Amino acid sequence: MELRIDRQAMVPVVQQIVDGLTEWILQSGVVPATRLPSVRQIARDNLLSQSCVVEACERLVSQGVLSARQGSGFIVAASPSTLGADDELAPFEGRYAWCDAVCEAAGGLKLGAGGLPQSWREPDDLSYALREVARTDMASLFNYSTPLGLPALREQIVKRLKLFGIEARSSQLLSTCGASHALDLIVRSLFKAGDCVVVETPGYAPLFDLLRLHGVRMLEVRRTPNGPDIEALEALLQQFRPGALFINSHHHNPTGSCLSASVAQRILQLSKAYDLRVIEDDVYADLHTGNGTRLAALDDEGRVIYVGSFSKTLSSSLRVGFVFAETEMVRRLAQVKMISGLGASRFTEAVLASLMVSGAYRKLVQRQRQRLNADRAAALQALEDADWEVFGKPAGGLFIWARSRMTDHVRVRRQAQYCGVLLSAPDAFSPCGESGDWLRINVAYACDPRARQFFRNTGSDRPQAF
Ligand SMILES: Cc1ncc(COP(=O)(O)O)c(C=O)c1O
Repeated sequence: MELRIDRQAMVPVVQQIVDGLTEWILQSGVVPATRLPSVRQIARDNLLSQSCVVEACERLVSQGVLSARQGSGFIVAASPSTLGADDELAPFEGRYAWCDAVCEAAGGLKLGAGGLPQSWREPDDLSYALREVARTDMASLFNYSTPLGLPALREQIVKRLKLFGIEARSSQLLSTCGASHALDLIVRSLFKAGDCVVVETPGYAPLFDLLRLHGVRMLEVRRTPNGPDIEALEALLQQFRPGALFINSHHHNPTGSCLSASVAQRILQLSKAYDLRVIEDDVYADLHTGNGTRLAALDDEGRVIYVGSFSKTLSSSLRVGFVFAETEMVRRLAQVKMISGLGASRFTEAVLASLMVSGAYRKLVQRQRQRLNADRAAALQALEDADWEVFGKPAGGLFIWARSRMTDHVRVRRQAQYCGVLLSAPDAFSPCGESGDWLRINVAYACDPRARQFFRNTGSDRPQAF
């Protein structure tokens, strides 16, 4: 049994063993009452100490996944997928194809996922900060936050934005419950049913759903490896005079592409010429190596509303994001924020602020970037070896947008199921629900042997495997 333990990872080894055993039970389809290989054998196969393996097994016993039998080691008691399974809807961003449901239930590899795998998350600093804030900051434990959000957090965000060339004052920042909340406040405050805006295609599906919910019409502009297709954008502006452009500047979801400096300049020129507002959603900013051009950094007329988030790096559960805009706009959004939810969580804002002040957040994202860079290079190589077509070659972030050269998409999807790989649905990133054969590959999952097998099996010159 190979558990793929990463000794450089920040996740403690025992936790990695727990995750590895859980995955093994799911993947190999063992039934309850199956005996686990002996502790000694697991330890020997994975160069681990027996005490670590025993500790991991005991944790699984307390979760009800294993049971311990005197003299006969550990026995599988129940499938992890049946334990604590709830009927809640899974997050639907990048919706998985219905035919993958069986694969997901069996613990399939979420190659098309929108975030980091749980095994990449680093709980230590975060748990420490949670305890510290709970112990020392009674106001944050019990009180409402201020309308703009905790001043200590906004001060820290001001400093981070400087790294991207964005000069912000803390009065121009509004904390939100993630970028989704920020987008919701913006759409609710600025648009009404029948208005029209430009969105990128492919793009971020929940934004399309949000606009649809408010009856806002979407005009589609094609995303190129350098940003939106500028000629097409200008044609849309001339013809329809839309009120805004929604754009991902860096590591665009789903293509992973970044805005070039010249395209950014052109967008700003167009926004002036056509009185266009630009909503720059930059949630992958901290996974970017280098600086890159931000529209908010170039903007000198208050046309850009910049949205950020800490979901992709620290935790999507804390729900902390923010908006940076000119002061009047921030005030307007803050009003809607207070009317609709009485603010955001002061507690999670204080936790994040403390991680930023201590430097723990900065170090976390540095490690994530390094690891992603290594995995991205390996994933690009694997795709090249399998002769897949890659859209641009992302220099950072989570995603690669790619497609097999096999013409039969159904066969590609069948191969994914066969290899235990979950793909995002073919229409997940299109504003009008159009199906396509490009796939969002999350580099943090792409080095898994199941992904490698899938790439190999879908190389263009492969004979049909079944
Ligand atoms: C482009 C984009 N914008 C916004 C969000 C929402 O982020 P949050 O978790 O901060 O609400 C996501 C999450 O996947 C995203 O990819």
